[in-house]
Amino acid sequence: MFILLLAATLFPTANGWTYPNLQLDALDTLRWDQIGYNSGPNPNSPGIGTFIAPCTFFTSDTSGNSGRSNAADWIRTAYHDMATYNQTDGTGGLDASIRFGAEQARPENVGDAFNNTINVVSGHANRYVSVADTLAVAAVMAFENCGGPQIAFRGGRVDATEPNVPGVPQPQDTLDAHIADFARSGFTQTEMISLVACGHSFGGVQHAIFPDIVPDLDDPTDTQSVQHFDTTFTNFDNNIASEYIAGTTQNPLVVGSNITTNSDQRIFGSDGNATMLSFANSAELFASTCSTLIARMLDTVPSGVQLTEVVTPLPVKPTNLVHILDGDNMVFTLDVRIWNSTNTSMAVVMLWDDHNGATNSTTLPARRLGTSSAINDLYKATWYGVDELTFDGVAGITTMRFTVNGDLEDQNGLGFPVQDSVLFSTSSCSFSRNPILARIDVAVRNGVNATRVFLEHTSFDSTGAPVVTRIDVPPPTQAVAVNSAYSVWSTNLTDNLFYTIGAEIDGTLINPTWANQAQNFKSC
Ligand code: HEM
Ligand SMILES: *[C@@H]1O[C@H](CO)[C@@H](O)[C@H](O)[C@H]1NC(C)=O
Ligand SMILES: *[C@@H]1O[C@H](CO)[C@@H](O)[C@H](O)[C@H]1NC(C)=O
Ligand SMILES: *[C@@H]1O[C@H](CO)[C@@H](O)[C@H](O)[C@H]1NC(C)=O
Ligand SMILES: *[C@@H]1O[C@H](CO)[C@@H](O)[C@H](O)[C@H]1NC(C)=O
Ligand SMILES: *[C@@H]1O[C@H](CO)[C@@H](O)[C@H](O)[C@H]1NC(C)=O
Ligand SMILES: *[C@@H]1O[C@H](CO)[C@@H](O)[C@H](O)[C@H]1NC(C)=O
Ligand SMILES: *[C@@H]1O[C@H](CO)[C@@H](O)[C@H](O)[C@H]1NC(C)=O
Ligand SMILES: *[C@@H]1O[C@H](CO)[C@@H](O)[C@H](O)[C@H]1NC(C)=O
Ligand SMILES: *[C@@H]1O[C@H](CO)[C@@H](O)[C@H](O)[C@H]1NC(C)=O
Repeated sequence: MFILLLAATLFPTANGWTYPNLQLDALDTLRWDQIGYNSGPNPNSPGIGTFIAPCTFFTSDTSGNSGRSNAADWIRTAYHDMATYNQTDGTGGLDASIRFGAEQARPENVGDAFNNTINVVSGHANRYVSVADTLAVAAVMAFENCGGPQIAFRGGRVDATEPNVPGVPQPQDTLDAHIADFARSGFTQTEMISLVACGHSFGGVQHAIFPDIVPDLDDPTDTQSVQHFDTTFTNFDNNIASEYIAGTTQNPLVVGSNITTNSDQRIFGSDGNATMLSFANSAELFASTCSTLIARMLDTVPSGVQLTEVVTPLPVKPTNLVHILDGDNMVFTLDVRIWNSTNTSMAVVMLWDDHNGATNSTTLPARRLGTSSAINDLYKATWYGVDELTFDGVAGITTMRFTVNGDLEDQNGLGFPVQDSVLFSTSSCSFSRNPILARIDVAVRNGVNATRVFLEHTSFDSTGAPVVTRIDVPPPTQAVAVNSAYSVWSTNLTDNLFYTIGAEIDGTLINPTWANQAQNFKSC
């Protein structure tokens, strides 16, 4: 196992991250499984992409005539969360501090966009995905799925535990103050012009929260009286620039009656219109500039935070592995996502090696039909997999490989390693359901130096941050064999039964979700 993991770091696959990696698996799911199977925090809840399909959709008012959109709210939220960044001391940045009521209550964060956004996306946070990662991915999807360029997404943001110091620019501030604000956050004046144009390709200014900028529009097709930044306010394009340069813009931060609050006018004109003119002349330049700058905006994080590599979809991704020891048998459930495919008739074969060096194989049927994202032709996937495949648990499993229409997928020879050192055993049982009392049996493979075995449960604290609880499973005083290859370690649970197994083998933590959720308890 150690040798295999070492090889993984020496020979990363050319395309996608290297399996196994629980954080990148979770981030790949967040980033790419946008709609349909595997896109929600649990099987029946919708993916983030659902809330911007179509891009005119607005959760809080589904009439279609509100003048607002989730896509615009999500982009503004990511910007306001980031805009507190101070590059001198490395504080602030995209860290989900905007989720705190105290930060939302500031004049610089007026409006319900932030709470709306948090309410839609933060439920996708988990042990490997921060709330800040969900805010970043929401902004990425808003741009990409609504006509904008692709944006490189990295994960690994860390959620703030308290509000950041204030620092979001406001429309009545001077140009010098805006230049200084963006400089504090690490952006030049030209980058400021560009970023504002990128963001203000969406949405507009609401009368309700900026009554001095936008009058009551009394428009039945714009019931929240949002005066939009350009004529195409639910999708990305360079009209924000071309309408400005043509002098036809209705952007309320350009043509507002009170010049004090015309911040876009001051910002856009601050280089003699050079940047805006270049965007008006080239939709491609605007798109590529926004692609780069929005990625940088989303990657603006407190000092010390290490972001992951850019999250690309694993072409053939085994995931949601549940394997349980049932006496002599291993019972194995797995999803395999085939990226960029809608073909449900492919020949997908799983091959696996056991501890004896033998190889077994089975053909995986297509199932859980549907695509990861219905929005964009690039983002399609078909799910193959197997439920409760039963094979010799004594022989066990070490590594999987796949063939797709005959082509071998083995991570350039590494294979897809699977740990079977610790597994739930179906001998686990329930003494009582109310109150809960259950005995969890963990099967530990003989010859494995299990220095610690534990059960792990993730809950969320009052700020929405994940909290991982561990309960140690003590080694048995007297070994109880499950079969010739496994012995049982046990503990009693008295709270809930949603635990995964984790372990340290030879003192080193192994990947916990390779183990599985406690389930299907029989009575003791
Ligand atoms: C000096 C800098 C900026 C100022 C003063 C500013 C100001 C404003 C104001 C007053 C609104 C109206 C909010 C509402 O009524 O809901 C707004 C909306 C918006 N801003 Fe900015 N903004 C700035 C920069 C940015 C940047 C850099 C981005 C993103 C890259 C951005 C993205 C948005 C979006 C998407 C909306 C529309 C929100 C919606 O319609 O729900 N803004 N901005
Ligand atoms: C940024 O951080 C530095 C160092 O702590 C501090 O001196 C400066 O005042 C901060 N800037 C702003 C605008 O808060
Ligand atoms: C934010 O939304 C939550 C959930 O709907 C709600 O309970 C809370 O009151 C809202 N907070 C604000 C400041 O509107
Ligand atoms: C213009 O806006 C500024 C800032 O909000 C405000 O102080 C000022 O009174 C406004 N002027 C007029 C004429 O409304
Ligand atoms: C920038 O373009 C706008 C719209 O055409 C125009 O009103 C403004 O005078 C220009 N500003 C400069 C500095 O050229
Ligand atoms: C998706 O598959 C099609 C056809 O198989 C191929 O032409 C295209 O390049 C692929 N796209 C990506 C993003 O891999
Ligand atoms: C799906 O894949 C199978 C096996 O390679 C192939 O025979 C079939 O033509 C494909 N179907 C489509 C619609 O591409
Ligand atoms: C090989 O896999 C099949 C299920 O596809 C199973 O019935 C059989 O017992 C396995 N053989 C061994 C040695 O595990
Ligand atoms: C688990 O609970 C059962 C039933 O109350 C009890 O007999 C057993 O001793 C307990 N085991 C442990 C390890 O606490
Ligand atoms: C088990 O691993 C621990 C921690 O690395 C080590 O100290 C111990 O010697 C190992 N025991 C065996 C039997 O290898």
